[in-house]
Amino acid sequence: MFRPVFLPGFLIAAALAASQPQIRAQQSAEPVYQQQPASRDGTGKIYLGREISRVMGHLGAGWLERPDRETEERTDLLIQRLPIKDADVVADIGAGTGYFSFPVAQRLPNGRVLAVDIQPEMLSIIEARKLELGIPNVQTVLGSITDPNLPVGTVNLIFIVDAYHEFSHPREMGEAMFKALTPGGTLILIEYRAEDPRVPIKPHHKMSEAQVKREMAVLGLEWVETAGYLPQQHVLVFRKP
Ligand SMILES: C[S@@+](CC[C@H](N)C(=O)[O-])C[C@H]1O[C@@H](n2cnc3c(N)ncnc32)[C@H](O)[C@@H]1O
Repeated sequence: MFRPVFLPGFLIAAALAASQPQIRAQQSAEPVYQQQPASRDGTGKIYLGREISRVMGHLGAGWLERPDRETEERTDLLIQRLPIKDADVVADIGAGTGYFSFPVAQRLPNGRVLAVDIQPEMLSIIEARKLELGIPNVQTVLGSITDPNLPVGTVNLIFIVDAYHEFSHPREMGEAMFKALTPGGTLILIEYRAEDPRVPIKPHHKMSEAQVKREMAVLGLEWVETAGYLPQQHVLVFRKP
């Protein structure tokens, strides 16, 4: 079976750090992150009790596009059930190859998908597919490890599939995503279920429902529901008040 290649998080962080503004100093006395020796496939960086995983490198693009993904993960159901209206602005953060960006854009005849990733190679794949597929309403956005670079207060729905667990700066990303949402806007996290040992994914690439809720609550996002219609992932829905 194809095995995705993982880039060490510190390499990506180092490459991007040079072009990033200083990360805002945290107000609380408690540091937001702790560091411990990295476990296999982890970064050693701890956020709210969770070890952040390593980032999947662009050489893993083939794994994202594997032919049996739809039947294994029922990605078709996820695409159909995303709560969108035809003129919405939707952000696919950690878009990878645009596996979800294009079919979601086709559900938005008068709207658009902002496909955000930190790896320019992933965005190049999306740009090439955009020409090939002739789907113009997907716009690529180069994000940084702390900021998806989305316009403030304009995004109706943010969805993140199998990517949030590898954000190296989840607090900063979360705060920026919160700002990008419209009032009443929706954020949906799709993560492999850590509670289910039958889900054949490495532990650092899974998240429990309780952990996701904890991490969204500190941002001020309200939990709406956790849907269990996918075979391997939960679909956690949050709302900006
Ligand atoms: C496992 S892939 C998932 C891709 C896509 N969502 C899918 O399911 O096909 C995770 C993606 O998240 C991206 N990523 C990691 N940290 C990110 C960040 N802070 N902001 C945006 N994208 C990020 C990686 O570059 C990678 O392309």
